[in-house]
Amino acid sequence: MPFSDAQEATEIKEIGGSPAQEEYMKNIINEFSLTTEHLCKIRTRFMKEMDKGLEKEGCTVAMIPSYVEGRLTGHERGQFLALDLGGTNLRVVLVTLEGEGKFKTVSTKARVSDALKNGPMRNLCDYIAECIDTFLTEQGLEDKESELPLGYTFSFPVLQTKINRGTLSQWTKGFACTGAIGKDPVMLLQDALLRKHLPVKVSALVNDTVGTLLSNAYNKPNTLAGLILGTGANGAYIEKISNIKKWKDGPTKSPEMIINMEFGAFDNERQALPLTRFDNKLDRESINPHSQIFEKMISGMYLGEIVRNVLVDMIDRELLFSPKGTFNPNVWSKEISTMWAFETSFMSKIEEDDTENLSQTKEVLDTSLNLSNVSVVECRIVKKVSELVGKRAARLAATAIAGIVSHCGIPDEGVDIGIDGSLFEFYPSFKTRMYEALQELFPEHSDIRTKIRLGLAKDGSGVGAALTACVATKAEGTKVV
Ligand code: BGC
Repeated sequence: MPFSDAQEATEIKEIGGSPAQEEYMKNIINEFSLTTEHLCKIRTRFMKEMDKGLEKEGCTVAMIPSYVEGRLTGHERGQFLALDLGGTNLRVVLVTLEGEGKFKTVSTKARVSDALKNGPMRNLCDYIAECIDTFLTEQGLEDKESELPLGYTFSFPVLQTKINRGTLSQWTKGFACTGAIGKDPVMLLQDALLRKHLPVKVSALVNDTVGTLLSNAYNKPNTLAGLILGTGANGAYIEKISNIKKWKDGPTKSPEMIINMEFGAFDNERQALPLTRFDNKLDRESINPHSQIFEKMISGMYLGEIVRNVLVDMIDRELLFSPKGTFNPNVWSKEISTMWAFETSFMSKIEEDDTENLSQTKEVLDTSLNLSNVSVVECRIVKKVSELVGKRAARLAATAIAGIVSHCGIPDEGVDIGIDGSLFEFYPSFKTRMYEALQELFPEHSDIRTKIRLGLAKDGSGVGAALTACVATKAEGTKVV
């Protein structure tokens, strides 16, 4: 639950700061806290935006049909490659589907440098092809006679026109390669694979949320949605074709299709989200201002930067790290003034610090941000700011789930939601805070955890992409088992 006034006053007192620090904390607690009423209002708007996106093209929440129809049976078998691009790392995975909901994976990871993220798309595709080449050699698959089907998890807004065709509409999460927007990422990758004569065919293009949903559904048949809460944020869910009013591609085999919502763009119009000046500053300074507003409030790429913006504001007001009249150039830190220098992983470490004198927080500030001689009161302030930003993110993410579930309805047996991403997996209390918000949003259910089951779908998108490649290959009539 959000703070009551009395709780809030006690929490502020416990920080033990000066009256000016107390006053500041009181204000930001108000700015960052989301009441149940806020959450309900946001859910209502979220549901309206879902409807709009299902009705016509070009809406803020794009609601992109994935061309993945129906659910999987869990009996699928075969060997598939999956490629995951869009988070911090590039991953190549060899997935062996064994049927009965079981699978095995072997994978390799490579970092995508800033130069590749911002250079020509051709360079990025050549780099990916090189990684695949090395992986195939390691796995003894380089001379395979028939082509290996590859499921390409490309985690950016792509308007799909087929299971393995689409056009990139914009970059997100710090990527800005030239020569890619308006083009088909599958063709660009397939060309790079051909340049290297690799026996690989890109047979499916999948958003990571769609992949996560599919892999979760492989052994949890009541799966309704897949979410990524990591570097970026987004969700996919199973929709009735009859509700997708904009669908113009004729009859489908199944009455359902997975929708890639691209909910990171929710409320770019700023009608429901209570944005603070710290969010506005981040948005203005980002490489994609005015877009992905919701994502910027809930995903790992941005949370640390929001915290940094608050801390810098306090420094400027002489409320932190060198209070009035005590400026000491020896303790000055360039890092705290550098954009993106405060990583979301620092917030995790700070939030999990339960030592009495907050020694872990002190350590993070010292070693990662070059802030020495930080007092316990200052550590408590940093911890509280991290908590406010982290909690707001979890509550907003829960509201998106509430929107999806309210749109679809909760069946008696409840629904499973598969979630992947570093925030959900590692950030302390993220899941608990999500459940708290869900309980507030669904007071009619006495224990929401039994009705909306949030589960970690670790590395699900790779397996999901392989499953999609399997479905696509089957549809083409190729024998895959
Ligand atoms: C992208 C989505 C993706 C999400 C999670 C967002 O920035 O637009 O396509 O699913 O990040 O990776």
